[in-house]
Amino acid sequence: MSSSYLDTFAGKRALITGGLGFIGSNLAYRLVELGARVTIVDSLIPAYGGNLANIRGLEDRLRVNIADVRDPHSMKYLVCDQDFLFNLAGQVSHTDSMQDPHTDLEINCRAQLSILEACRHNNSGIKIVFASTRQIYGVPDYLPVDERHLVHPTDVNGINKTAGEWYHIVYNNVYGVRAASLRLTNTYGPRMRVRDARQTFLGQWLRLVVEGAELLVYGDGRQVRDLNYVDDVVDAMLRTGADDAANGQVYNLGGDEPISLLDLAGLLVEIAGRGSFRLVPWPPERRVIDIGDYWGDYRKIRAKLGWQPAVSLREGLGRTIAYYERTRDDYW
Ligand SMILES: NC(=O)c1ccc[n+]([C@@H]2O[C@H](COP(=O)([O-])OP(=O)(O)OC[C@H]3O[C@@H](n4cnc5c(N)ncnc54)[C@H](O)[C@@H]3O)[C@@H](O)[C@H]2O)c1
Repeated sequence: MSSSYLDTFAGKRALITGGLGFIGSNLAYRLVELGARVTIVDSLIPAYGGNLANIRGLEDRLRVNIADVRDPHSMKYLVCDQDFLFNLAGQVSHTDSMQDPHTDLEINCRAQLSILEACRHNNSGIKIVFASTRQIYGVPDYLPVDERHLVHPTDVNGINKTAGEWYHIVYNNVYGVRAASLRLTNTYGPRMRVRDARQTFLGQWLRLVVEGAELLVYGDGRQVRDLNYVDDVVDAMLRTGADDAANGQVYNLGGDEPISLLDLAGLLVEIAGRGSFRLVPWPPERRVIDIGDYWGDYRKIRAKLGWQPAVSLREGLGRTIAYYERTRDDYW
């Protein structure tokens, strides 16, 4: 696929659930740039990643509807007449999903079914891209993890995201409501929640390094992860939305530079030119749901949709640190 997939969105209507959050707002910028008519739906629940500062400068160029995806009446109305649904709203904290499993169930599982029912009955021609997660694989049986790897999540969030994903695939296969799912790995970049480690450890590390403070690395810091810069994830979403070859498919995303968390902490400190890091014992509530080493095999989406990451880790982290140096008042 050449860059013609980007032309698909001009003049089209696109609904982004979770659009005031990290990935959703970056996607909103890109879609507006491409000429799409964007509507955001977001509940702005304070503990989650939604932030009105994330759409600064875009306010007059899109519509924002503060609503909860758990409300089937709102969703029924909101999906009407949309060409695309980028379905990103979610409870994203793994530890919260263990402390309050029912809220995770309501948002990541039950609400997904309501959204799909709303589409089936009110707009069956819509195309849906769902944001799933590599967390559903649990502790990897082998590396890198491809889409044939068994799904055996280590936490409640992983279970509900699995169900949310498969409702989409079933609605594609049974009712012809076109849908595809992307299994995202650790995504980072401007507009992510950095207030605490709720979204990912990396958010908190970014904040600490900008402050010149100390990053805490759990255990021996040897756990390996792959990362994607948010612009690359947005590009994967656009390719998936534009191409009907993706319908009914699940695709891994993945990074080209798997890195240990200890090395990642060191790289952040080096790029920022300040801060420090230290190894500390695992907090027990995190240890029990940790997935160990992970990196993803993204050859399927590369072969089918031509996606691969374009932004190196060093470049992406540098851009991200620079962003928070400019905007810390909006995020701290
Ligand atoms: N960031 C990552 O590393 C990562 C990795 C894997 C998967 N994902 C998935 O990508 C999606 C977006 O994640 P993100 O990192 O942008 O998180 P985020 O928390 O920044 O964004 C999620 C948004 O959804 C909104 N939301 C939550 N519950 C809602 C509800 N009930 N109704 C309406 N809006 C609601 C939040 O207010 C927030 O703005 C999520 O579904 C997440 O599971 C993210």
